[in-house]
Amino acid sequence: MSTVQVSVESAESAGPDAAQLIARYDGRVPRYTSYPTAPHFTPAIGRSVYARWLAELPADASVSLYLHVPFCDRLCLYCGCNTSVVRLESSHRAYAAVLMREIDRVAMLIGRRATVSHVHWGGGTPTSLPADRLIAIMDKLKERFAFARGAEIAIEIDPTSLPPDRRDALGPMGVTRVSLGVQDLEPGVQKAIGREQSYEETRACADAARALGVSSLNLDLIYGLPLQTSEGVARTARRALDLEADRVAVFGYAHVPWMKRHQTLIPEETLPGPAERFAQLNAIHRVLTHEGGYVAVGLDHYALPSDSMARAATAGRLKRSFQGYTTDTAPALIGFGASSIGSLPQGYVQNAPTAAAYAREIETAQLATVRGVALTADDRLRRDVIDRVMCDLEVDLDAVAGECSADPAQLKVAASEGMARFVCDGLASWDGRRIVVSERGRPFVRSIAALFDAYLSQPSDKPRHSRAV
Ligand SMILES: C[S@@+](CC[C@H](N)C(=O)[O-])C[C@H]1O[C@@H](n2cnc3c(N)ncnc32)[C@H](O)[C@@H]1O
Ligand code: SF4
Repeated sequence: MSTVQVSVESAESAGPDAAQLIARYDGRVPRYTSYPTAPHFTPAIGRSVYARWLAELPADASVSLYLHVPFCDRLCLYCGCNTSVVRLESSHRAYAAVLMREIDRVAMLIGRRATVSHVHWGGGTPTSLPADRLIAIMDKLKERFAFARGAEIAIEIDPTSLPPDRRDALGPMGVTRVSLGVQDLEPGVQKAIGREQSYEETRACADAARALGVSSLNLDLIYGLPLQTSEGVARTARRALDLEADRVAVFGYAHVPWMKRHQTLIPEETLPGPAERFAQLNAIHRVLTHEGGYVAVGLDHYALPSDSMARAATAGRLKRSFQGYTTDTAPALIGFGASSIGSLPQGYVQNAPTAAAYAREIETAQLATVRGVALTADDRLRRDVIDRVMCDLEVDLDAVAGECSADPAQLKVAASEGMARFVCDGLASWDGRRIVVSERGRPFVRSIAALFDAYLSQPSDKPRHSRAV
């Protein structure tokens, strides 16, 4: 598979220059963490359908678990996550109690102690919850599910919000992977995004995680933030190398003020334009691959060659989930908490978005599903194609259609109509059966995946997605 060692910087070499490519392909397209994507979920899928889907899970199906904690101590101006500022400990405790009720209910509906391979705590800031509640929730999960040997337990951590008791809870929780939000280490940028976080603070957090026996460390960086420059993001990436992370995620800042009101506090004129964003991505890419020895994985991840994600990418086993790229192969992902999304063999389900609405639903009806989508045969086929494009940067349409017992004809029509301009610009090849994304094409892979999205052509009255690059 061609997922590793593909360089974005060559998009600056032969053929159309970067500015032309960006003008052509920097439309607003989904990130394809699901297909159909979340804007196409509907209230037709509610808690009774979810209850049925859980009961129907095959007896040998392993599951992955996602827990969403929608609280932070402060709101970073760029934040695109589902969270709000809640500092009251009584609110945190009440939320933990509701989460435990939901875990009980879901486990009861599954009807057995399903095997768990991955747990992911996301947010918001999961360590907003009191240490004893974090441990109690993990204990509840272990009571209700059978943890596979070597199960991965991952948690997102804001290095500025890890008091000693939460740090000490990571051991008893069994955490094996820590993901630290770094974003940018330049003081001017940090001020502009309302997130002041020193390198030392970040380093202390990374060291503490390692000392507690955490085997894998991830960092999140962002480009395209206000006042960022290529030189500045390269400096941040270089300092990040010193933290010796196993993986680095590099996200393009998603400026969606129509969805996240607080982003209106970022003056548009401080945001780098599309060509500058591209140069910043390139600068980070160069530092991580040339100086750090990381390999590029998919659209936005970097991993040490020895890391399981790099190995999964090489073997064509990488998967896409709501957390981005994953090595998890469980057929079902169960989401707990406000706004969390579950992915079951039958389709997707999403919980009520706010902590208050979620708690109300669980208290009155024991499940909080408010929308979702049941997958059709066509959705499954297109999802598999989109997953391969996003994960492997190549797809064999005959092979995917064969696995789905489907006719590849429609896919080939979509590819034949849509691939010409990508081929012409040297971003991919298309031979009537296989698409292979080239080194130049990696940053535009979302746009190639979008060729197979049957929902994109549906009319919409408002913008939904962030920039492709
Ligand atoms: C749930 S959040 C953060 C976890 C933790 N609260 C923190 O801030 O460190 C996970 C990651 O999403 C990314 N992120 C948040 N808002 C974003 C946005 N608007 N555009 C791109 N990435 C974003 C950040 O890199 C962040 O570390
Ligand atoms: S980036 Fe992290 S800490 Fe900042 S508001 Fe978003 S979830 Fe909270």
